[in-house]
Amino acid sequence: MPVRRRHFLGQGLVLVLAGFCRRAWAQALRFRSLARPVVIPIGSLATPWQAFPFMADGVTLPSAATPNQPIRISGMVVRTSAGNEPEKFAAVCLKCPHESCDVDFIQDPSKLPQDVKDEIGRSIARSVYICPCHNSTFMAEDGERLAGPAPRGLYRFRVTKVSEAAVEIGEVEEDVLIFI
Ligand code: FES
Repeated sequence: MPVRRRHFLGQGLVLVLAGFCRRAWAQALRFRSLARPVVIPIGSLATPWQAFPFMADGVTLPSAATPNQPIRISGMVVRTSAGNEPEKFAAVCLKCPHESCDVDFIQDPSKLPQDVKDEIGRSIARSVYICPCHNSTFMAEDGERLAGPAPRGLYRFRVTKVSEAAVEIGEVEEDVLIFI
C-alpha cells in the first residue's frame, strides 16, 4: 500500500477512535438534577454556534466538603446544529477545571493565539472556550480539553428538554456539586 494512503487511513482511524473515546467519556459522566431547571428562550439560540450565558442553582452533595449547601454555577449553552432536540445544544460550566478562572467563549477559533493552535496540532473549525489564566482550551460542542494544563474537560450540564419556546437545562455533572 502506498505510504500516503497508509498515512491517510491511519489518520482516519485516529479520528474514529477519538470520537469513540469522547462518546464513551460522555456516557460515563454522572449527572444530578439542579435545584430548578434553567429555562432559556429558544430565540436566544436561533443559529448554530450562538451562545447564551446563564446561572444555575444546585445543592452540594452529602459527600462534598461543605455538604447540602446551595451553590450557584455559571454556565454557557450553545446551539451546535439546526433542530430542536436536546443533543443539538451543549451546555458547560464556565469555571476552568485547572484553577477555577472563568473561561471565555471564542466563536471563531482562528482567533486563538498561535501557541495554543500549535499545541492543539490540528485545525479546529468550530467554536471553543479558552481560559485567560493559563490558556487551557476546550471544544464548545462538548467541553473536551484541547490544550493547556487543565486536568480534564469542562464540567457539563445536560439539556433535558427543548420545546418550540425554550431550551431547558435540568442537570449538572455530579462532580460540580462536590468540587466547585
Ligand atoms: S485556571 Fe484555567 S488554565 Fe489555569
